[in-house]
Amino acid sequence: MGDSTRPLRVDTTFPVNELFTRKMEEVRDYPDDVRMETVMVSSQPRLMGQENCMPVIPSISVSATHQFKKAELYGDCVANGYIYHRLGSHSTEAAAHVINNLEGGEGATLFSSGMSAITTTFLAILKSGDHVIVPDPVYAGVFTFFKHMAGRYGIESTFVPACEIEEYRKAIKPNTKLFFGETPTNPTIGVLDLDAFAALTKSVPNAISMVDSTFASPYNVQTLRHGIDIVVHSTTKYLGGHHDHMGGVMCSSDPKLFFYISEFQKQLGTIQGAFDAFLLMRGIKTLAVRMEKHATNAMKVATFLEGHPKVAKVYYPGLKSHPYHEVAKKQMKTFGGMVTFIMHNKKSAEKLVDSLKIILLAVSLGGIESLVEHPASMTHGPYLMTDEERKKGGIDEGLIRFSVGIEDGDDLVNDLKQALEKV
Ligand SMILES: Cc1ncc(COP(=O)(O)O)c(C=O)c1O
Repeated sequence: MGDSTRPLRVDTTFPVNELFTRKMEEVRDYPDDVRMETVMVSSQPRLMGQENCMPVIPSISVSATHQFKKAELYGDCVANGYIYHRLGSHSTEAAAHVINNLEGGEGATLFSSGMSAITTTFLAILKSGDHVIVPDPVYAGVFTFFKHMAGRYGIESTFVPACEIEEYRKAIKPNTKLFFGETPTNPTIGVLDLDAFAALTKSVPNAISMVDSTFASPYNVQTLRHGIDIVVHSTTKYLGGHHDHMGGVMCSSDPKLFFYISEFQKQLGTIQGAFDAFLLMRGIKTLAVRMEKHATNAMKVATFLEGHPKVAKVYYPGLKSHPYHEVAKKQMKTFGGMVTFIMHNKKSAEKLVDSLKIILLAVSLGGIESLVEHPASMTHGPYLMTDEERKKGGIDEGLIRFSVGIEDGDDLVNDLKQALEKV
């Protein structure tokens, strides 16, 4: 997929250290038609020096630093092993390697959070005078970055209605460098047509496409296989999967871009810790089975909510009524575990989320426990957005975001039923 002869599409005076451009090797000799479910469980990078007897599970490599036999071996050790955790460790590279395998990328690297994956990538690609097109709505942290921070570095941005390719096209300027997308979108569950998004980006010389596919996970969508340059995930969500891990990942189909962003990461110091990398590796092994159960439960819940008189509207890509149902059918393996629904007003939305007994009222998503949140008073509330901004992004006062877990689906429906009776 990657083309190493293609020039780096970033204006730079910042050299990539050649020592760090090695590639991990896969231990398994997979047949060409190996399926993703098998790769999730078994993919492993070769551990230097242990070819003949490897641990089944890569060890948690906690050493911040490594000792050298001789000073002159420094360069060799950097090129072929690990010397200091911020520059990479076996724990982080093992989990990154599996994600890279799933995405079909040319390299992946782990970060301390989803936001650090996103902002490190922005800072690596963009320079003063560049223009970025950003979807609205978008994850609240990205919204805040472009609303308050990017301008300080001379980076220009335009918000366009999420998933609307024609709106992205209209927003193109001579200095447009980055097309940023999210799929499905947070919190309104719009689905971005990745083939069309990649084609639009390619029509602008030297522009780069970057998509946050956190809500889909690599199980449901392999973003890079649609021609996208960079995919990011908050691994805190589905990839980790248990609400006990924090992290992010950036994976690219362009090897030059990958090494360039990685070089920035090393200096910004945004790498993931060893324990989080271990939890991520463990989470990925069950991603396929979890995602199937999330999706079955989400469909059950969405169908129940759509037929309920106290619910004004339901957004789930698996429902025929969803505006992007056809796009989702084309590019998603399952329709995912995220359901958004709208109550008739803010008061009834708040009453509903306060009355649930099994489903927890908490921010975040993608773990095995079901979580709901009310964006208008929580993640997209007055602390972050004006009423006007919420309205523009389609974040209704009555909107509830539901990350459907893997509990028994009927129990989840019953919990919603009893809470709706109290509204
Ligand atoms: C779509 C999306 N992207 C990025 C993030 C940021 O991830 P993190 O909290 O791991 O920094 C989130 C967090 O909720 C998210 O929902």
